[in-house]
Amino acid sequence: MDPLFQEALDRFETLYQQAVSLKLDDPSVMALATSDAKGNPSVRMVNLRQRDEHGFVFFTNLESGKGQQLVEIPRAAMCFYWHRLAEQVVIKGNVQQLSDEQSDGFWQARSHEQNVASWVSHMSEPLTNPDELKERIKEVRAEYPDGRIPRPPHWAGYRLKPDHIVFWHADWRDLKGRITFQLKETGWTRELLTP
Ligand SMILES: Cc1cc2nc3c(=O)[nH]c(=O)nc-3n(C[C@H](O)[C@H](O)[C@H](O)COP(=O)(O)O)c2cc1C
Repeated sequence: MDPLFQEALDRFETLYQQAVSLKLDDPSVMALATSDAKGNPSVRMVNLRQRDEHGFVFFTNLESGKGQQLVEIPRAAMCFYWHRLAEQVVIKGNVQQLSDEQSDGFWQARSHEQNVASWVSHMSEPLTNPDELKERIKEVRAEYPDGRIPRPPHWAGYRLKPDHIVFWHADWRDLKGRITFQLKETGWTRELLTP
């Protein structure tokens, strides 16, 4: 692996572990930005589910706004901000849907309650009556009494393969500069910019 990419991943991992050890609310939460083919941007919070040299994985409903946008423009940006660390990390890259086998693996590792919720939520569809959701939850529980719920076809993972990773330390009393790792034709580069 390119040593500069490794350095960026290590730096991310160090911050992530610091956030975990500080018991921050949920260090895996990030803002995910996508765009449609007309250039209309959207942003929302999602959870990071896996991170390694292959990329940064999140899960969603394929029929959601972001699911549709990622069909049009398979590229996204992630923004993590851990307030107590005063650290922001922005990651950009192309996005690919995981294989069914990979998504199944993540699905099985989730809690039963999370899986029931994903079954009943047709994300971003109009909801005339919130009680409908409670009814659907009952139906799903009745359909799978042993608790082993298969992955719904609309739920899948995506992997963002980074080509930009930017670290920004948000403390004006302790200016450190903005460290920018970027994948160029010749490989990864590292630049220190003013914050
Ligand atoms: C803390 C937090 C974590 C969330 N995690 C996810 C997630 O991992 N996947 C997901 O699809 N939506 C997640 N959501 C809901 C999204 O923010 C969003 O409302 C939903 O995915 C629909 O977005 P879209 O219509 O832009 O696609 C989360 C929301 C919050 C507040």
